[in-house]
Amino acid sequence: MDAELLLAHATGRTRAGLLVLDTVDGPVAERFTDLVEQRADRVPLQHLTGRAPFRYLELAVGPGVFVPRPETEQIVEWCLARLTGVAEPVVVDLGTGSGAIALSIAHEHPGARVTAIERDADAIEWTRVNAAARAAAGDRPVEVLGGDMTDPGLLRALDGRVDLVVSNPPYVPDGARLPREVADHDPPLALWGGPDGLDVVRGLLGTAARLLRPGGALGIEHADQQGTALPAVVRAHGGWADVADHVDLAGRPRYTTATRVAGAGGD
Ligand SMILES: C[S@@+](CC[C@H](N)C(=O)[O-])C[C@H]1O[C@@H](n2cnc3c(N)ncnc32)[C@H](O)[C@@H]1O
Repeated sequence: MDAELLLAHATGRTRAGLLVLDTVDGPVAERFTDLVEQRADRVPLQHLTGRAPFRYLELAVGPGVFVPRPETEQIVEWCLARLTGVAEPVVVDLGTGSGAIALSIAHEHPGARVTAIERDADAIEWTRVNAAARAAAGDRPVEVLGGDMTDPGLLRALDGRVDLVVSNPPYVPDGARLPREVADHDPPLALWGGPDGLDVVRGLLGTAARLLRPGGALGIEHADQQGTALPAVVRAHGGWADVADHVDLAGRPRYTTATRVAGAGGD
């Protein structure tokens, strides 16, 4: 599969277009060989093609930004279901990376007013490239802002006004063994989440609690092994109802959701 996609990339064809390709030679063959060698050395496919498919979008990616994963598509589905019937929902994506979640929500819910937060100065360059491309394609522009999702001063103007906060935060426990594609090519800030992987989650709960209106929704992606621990952290934080965990299409625990309780106040 990867070899076919790299050949399609090197020849400028679609994958189906390879069916009628007889020979490849000259500089294109050299380029293809080089791409295959890099992939064999565990450079991510998406860094070699410069593109990552995510739901209905194709995002620009490369060194400096987390490659969006198919399993994250599921939490977007949940966000859209929660926003059904809300004409102009206010949405915040914390730790947006390529912008995959934020830009998908803007694309699939044309009324959504989406703000995307990213702390990493390299990653946010990619967010801005993708956000500009989607706005040029006709989607409602997403506001891209540099910031720390654990900062008590973040987005103060939106306190109590947000309908949905979503995050795919860094959640890998310190010291975990990762494939070379991930360990060597995804940015460290996108991966590591402290001893149990939940340090950033603990920090973002206060931000989400402050931003959400009563009845507003929170969705947080997590690692396979955190399907019990993350809901427990949310319950312990207090002020949340309907705390639930959800599996992805492979049946693995993948994200926790909750509803902000009226009268709980912000932290
Ligand atoms: C796992 S990646 C997810 C990126 C994207 N949302 C996705 O689903 O593909 C986590 C992102 O959060 C960013 N990040 C990490 N800590 C952060 C913080 N304290 N505040 C804001 N962004 C942060 C990382 O730089 C990275 O882009």
